[in-house]
Amino acid sequence: MIIVAGSASSKLAARVAKLLGCPLAKSEVTRFPDGESYVRVNHNFKDEHAVVVQSTYYPQNDNFIELFLLLDAIKDLGAKRVTAVVPYFGYARQDKRFKPGEAISVRTMCKLVERAGADDIFTIDIHEEEIMANFAIPAYNLTAMSLIGRYVSRLDLRDPVVLAGDQGALHHAKRAAAEFMADYDYLEKTRQTSTKVAIRPKRLNVSKRDVVIVDDIISTGGTVIEAIKILKKQGARRIYAACTHPVLVSNALRKIIAAGARKVIATDTIEHKTSVISVAPVIAERIR
Ligand code: R5P
Repeated sequence: MIIVAGSASSKLAARVAKLLGCPLAKSEVTRFPDGESYVRVNHNFKDEHAVVVQSTYYPQNDNFIELFLLLDAIKDLGAKRVTAVVPYFGYARQDKRFKPGEAISVRTMCKLVERAGADDIFTIDIHEEEIMANFAIPAYNLTAMSLIGRYVSRLDLRDPVVLAGDQGALHHAKRAAAEFMADYDYLEKTRQTSTKVAIRPKRLNVSKRDVVIVDDIISTGGTVIEAIKILKKQGARRIYAACTHPVLVSNALRKIIAAGARKVIATDTIEHKTSVISVAPVIAERIR
């Protein structure tokens, strides 16, 4: 097995290769003068199982094109099997036609990954599990929530609660909390009058307790900032925000800290200064 590092996941690919004791091939990615992408992997892939690690965060379009070019080139260079590891799968939030006429973007990306030559695909905490059904090849959605749980368990939290921003993310909170036998819950919106909505943890009282908000993605930070404001009003002690994918656009990190979070904790599916947890063990264990 050989691990191929896409330019968006060079550090993560190296960590996976190290854990597996596999060789690491680096791709050469440059631009033609007109802006088109140029990709080269100078390695003999004949009869090898190649694992391409490439996240598709910003610039999403460039990173997806690089992934397609890598998969196709490696297959064409004689690899007997090509596995795509796409730790952050971009476009996943456009998984439905919300308005008539819209492209279902993630479905198109799934088709293209497959058509480019992937024999199987692994991703991590994809926005909706159902997206994996777009693939005809074996497709696996791994999770970083146990790693997140293990990390926060070392933070010396007082009477901790792991909280999901909504019911849909409750499975993330449950998984992270299981690592240190913490309580978990989700924020529920209840309409009180036609103009008033109350948001509070469904079951638990957070007063004087440390809270870890978990989510798959933090992008603009809007969701987590709203949660922080509510939790502070309800008397939470220290608040941490944790996610798998630190997309963190538009000064989101600064805004989350200004809203009252102690720290933002994330993984290296996206290489960012908040990426204090590596998902390499989760990937290595599954592709071994
Ligand atoms: C939503 O369903 C996701 O799980 C995240 O809560 C959302 O994408 C976060 O986005 P933002 O940080 O922009 O509120």
